[in-house]
Amino acid sequence: MERDPNAFLREEYEKLKEKNLNWNLRVLEGPSAPRTVVDGKPVIMLCSNNYLNLSNHPKIIEASIEATRRLGAGSGSVRPIAGNMGLHMEVERELARFKRSESALVYQTGFATNAGLIPQLADKGDIIISDELNHGSIIDGVRLSRADKAIYAHQNMGQLEDQLREADKKGYRRILVITDGVFSMDGDVAQADTIVKLCKEVGAMTYFDDAHGEGVLGPHGEGISAHYGIEGEIDVEVGTFSKAYGVVGGLVAGSQDLVNYAYNTSRTWLLSGSHPPGVAAAQLEAIRVLSREPEHHKRLWDNTNYFKKELQSLGFDTGDSVTPITPVMCGESKMAKDLSDGLYKNGVFALPIVFPMVAQGKARIRTIMNAGLTKDDLDEAISAFEKVGKSIGLI
Ligand SMILES: Cc1ncc(COP(=O)(O)O)c(C=O)c1O
Repeated sequence: MERDPNAFLREEYEKLKEKNLNWNLRVLEGPSAPRTVVDGKPVIMLCSNNYLNLSNHPKIIEASIEATRRLGAGSGSVRPIAGNMGLHMEVERELARFKRSESALVYQTGFATNAGLIPQLADKGDIIISDELNHGSIIDGVRLSRADKAIYAHQNMGQLEDQLREADKKGYRRILVITDGVFSMDGDVAQADTIVKLCKEVGAMTYFDDAHGEGVLGPHGEGISAHYGIEGEIDVEVGTFSKAYGVVGGLVAGSQDLVNYAYNTSRTWLLSGSHPPGVAAAQLEAIRVLSREPEHHKRLWDNTNYFKKELQSLGFDTGDSVTPITPVMCGESKMAKDLSDGLYKNGVFALPIVFPMVAQGKARIRTIMNAGLTKDDLDEAISAFEKVGKSIGLI
């Protein structure tokens, strides 16, 4: 048989282009800052995950530079062999202290955490129960497990309860319930208190991926368990340093038993190089800044409340969001693309989220607030929303 081993690459890419599902990468010409330059145009940034603007914090930058000078550009190995520096251990101690958990563990990324840990927590003879809107990295982690799977409708606690009862009756060895903490497309928050209660009734393990809640929810950004006042009750709290902490890296907080088990079994942790010293030092300083400088967290929420209220009073539909992720619902994909294009022309960078990332008819602009934006910046962005929203007939 004659076979061209590479032909599919272009064919598949062309198909994506035809369906308008390919990514045209934009270039950030400067730091990820509240005001920056994208593809040559100065813009107000409304779609970065750098919620607290910590990636530009002088103390965090300095800590990273100092560690790089002192300890080098790379760590030299995976952590279980020769790449476990004192700095990596210090980050985990500081993180456990901040999150008031018994222990903590840092992975290379949030994605690597879900892909590496989930398959180790549930195997043949077990069941994983997931919210239908969980993040793609959770979905991939679940796919890597040999456990049975069940999915409940988004935030439907009645359905979760039924599935838990059913799983209990069927006598599964372990039941693992996984949900995002803050849902990244809608900005709503998982009902952690109810989920924990339901899971306790049947002895199910709870796993919250709080990537968008770390640094955002709770009195100082400690995350979802602090938000609900249920610290220590979620079995596995996962998060990331790549969003509000302004750096990169995945994290897990929970019991010492969890951490011992996780790092001895997760292949993504065991078989992938550890963070360079500059990254670990930035993570450490970011945790310290979060605990010592509450003003960033406060500004994020003040900005969020103002922006949401103003958008709503203009007549925009901001969905079920209660967090700094504020979707502006548009309905059809074209409306969302037109709104995004118009905003960009008016100096606001906020990208459309369209099918298949969200259901048909649920296209939106997803905005993410930043603590570094001033009231003038926000007013300018709101005026752009008003102008473009009216011109395309959305409001
Ligand atoms: C819920 C959730 N989990 C995990 C991730 C991945 O995190 P990281 O960037 O650290 O790989 C994201 C990022 O988009 C996310 O939203």
